[in-house]
Amino acid sequence: MALISIVASIGYFEIFVAIFCFFVFCALGDRSGLPCNWPFLGMFPGLLFHVNRIHERCFEVFSTTGGTFLLKGPWFANIDILGTVDPANVHYIMSANFENFPKGEEFKKIFDVLGDGIFNSDLDLWKSQRKITRTLITHQRFHNCLVKTSWDKIKNGLIPVLEFVARESKIVDLQDVFQRFTFDTTCQLVTGFDPGCLSLEFPNVPFSKAMDEAEEVLFIRHLLPESVWKLQKWLGIGHEKKLSKAWQVLDQVIGKYISMKRDELSNGTKLKEDNEEGFDLLTSYILDDGLNFDDKSLRDTILNLMIAGRDTTSSGLTWFIWLVSTHPEVEKKIRKELMAIISVAKSQKWRLFRANELKNAIYLHAALCESLRLYPPVPFQHKTPREPCILPSGHHVHPNMRVMFSLYAMGRIESIWGKDAAEFKPERWISDRGIVKHEPSYKFLAFNAGPRTCLGKEVAFTQMKAVAAAIIHNYQVEVIKGHKVYPNVSIILYMQHGFKASIKKRWT
Ligand code: HEM
Repeated sequence: MALISIVASIGYFEIFVAIFCFFVFCALGDRSGLPCNWPFLGMFPGLLFHVNRIHERCFEVFSTTGGTFLLKGPWFANIDILGTVDPANVHYIMSANFENFPKGEEFKKIFDVLGDGIFNSDLDLWKSQRKITRTLITHQRFHNCLVKTSWDKIKNGLIPVLEFVARESKIVDLQDVFQRFTFDTTCQLVTGFDPGCLSLEFPNVPFSKAMDEAEEVLFIRHLLPESVWKLQKWLGIGHEKKLSKAWQVLDQVIGKYISMKRDELSNGTKLKEDNEEGFDLLTSYILDDGLNFDDKSLRDTILNLMIAGRDTTSSGLTWFIWLVSTHPEVEKKIRKELMAIISVAKSQKWRLFRANELKNAIYLHAALCESLRLYPPVPFQHKTPREPCILPSGHHVHPNMRVMFSLYAMGRIESIWGKDAAEFKPERWISDRGIVKHEPSYKFLAFNAGPRTCLGKEVAFTQMKAVAAAIIHNYQVEVIKGHKVYPNVSIILYMQHGFKASIKKRWT
């Protein structure tokens, strides 16, 4: 009997090992390295298996398939996804056939926390929001306010922190610092209030934390069948519980800002619309009689602009400063360019740079573009076709399907960027005439393409250049030895474990 049971248990063990190996094999992919298509489950297991390195996985799959790949979802979930990094497809979807590719209902359901804000809307609602936002953001008054806000925050927020870290030989998480910087400046530009997040105390800011948590859950929703996350939401469990708590915090804080602003305006404390000192977008939205925004529209607008401005720019800065600090030859060239802006007598001293001084910093600009190519702050995007159609790559798409772009993979594909695609090489952005080379947006998609191109590109470059110049000219950033740097899994491309660094002053 004992012998029989040992033989039986060995049998079960072997069966278990065989099933385990089969699962792993299928999860890893078939012989070509592509995800295995399971009965009922589609390619879902492979997706989950690689979820922690999803961006790299996308790159592997697109490199193998030549640019477009159909990911089969579980049969019950109805989420087949056509992934593509083919510039011809991107151009077709984002520009040539824009009307047939709205963000769609799927997008709106996933990003429900954004309400009816610009990121989440389509058709007439989107058009009117874009028109208003563009008018406000491109106004000279906004630009002046941006320049002043950024300068003040660098001088009174960023520099004291860096000086303290350098003096005390501490380790700092620069990703956290940049998030705090852009959170404060964006909040000031959008609402007129400075939450004072970037200070030596590194205060806990529930609003900022709630934004991080909401973004994480929004990413997870992309990976799960709608029925699953909807059930979790209904039951108030798992990630959905986290999102609903974050949602409450966002509503509370934004609600407070709106009522404070209404009070200010009705008290006449702040009625200087023409005065850029007191300018902010919320005031403009409230005071514009033609808009008639109620509190819900104001809430949605503020949240969308906060997400647009805070996360993308701080992600861009994080990856950029890391790349520069790990590429001494690029660092040297940026320093040389900055030195040339200053008179020789003053070039070996601590100094901050004004936005207009950095306008012609070609190499710095090129290096930022190069960093955004390799580490696009928005790492993927998706659209749903309204009518069936055939993409330039020959793939059929229809309304029950999502089309997904991996911006992360797109920036690394050799057929798009050449054999040296993986290298950080700002020179590729500089033309023979010594100016920044224009790359079509359907190839360099970091700021989106077509009618929905990012409205804040200039804002982002102004801020990133000012911060980057202040750091690179005045400090030596050193990544902490052994600190692992790789992308997180969220709708914004951050470093999974932050950017831990030490700071040394360059000038005494
Ligand atoms: C490095 C910084 C930035 C990057 C990489 C970036 C990237 C993007 C991307 C990829 C989109 C398309 C998103 C989508 O449709 O789902 C977008 C849209 C947008 N961005 Fe930016 N952005 C940056 C900074 C900013 C800033 C600082 C602002 C505002 C001050 C801003 C305002 C907007 C707005 C309003 C839209 C919506 C456009 C529309 O749907 O018509 N962005 N951005």
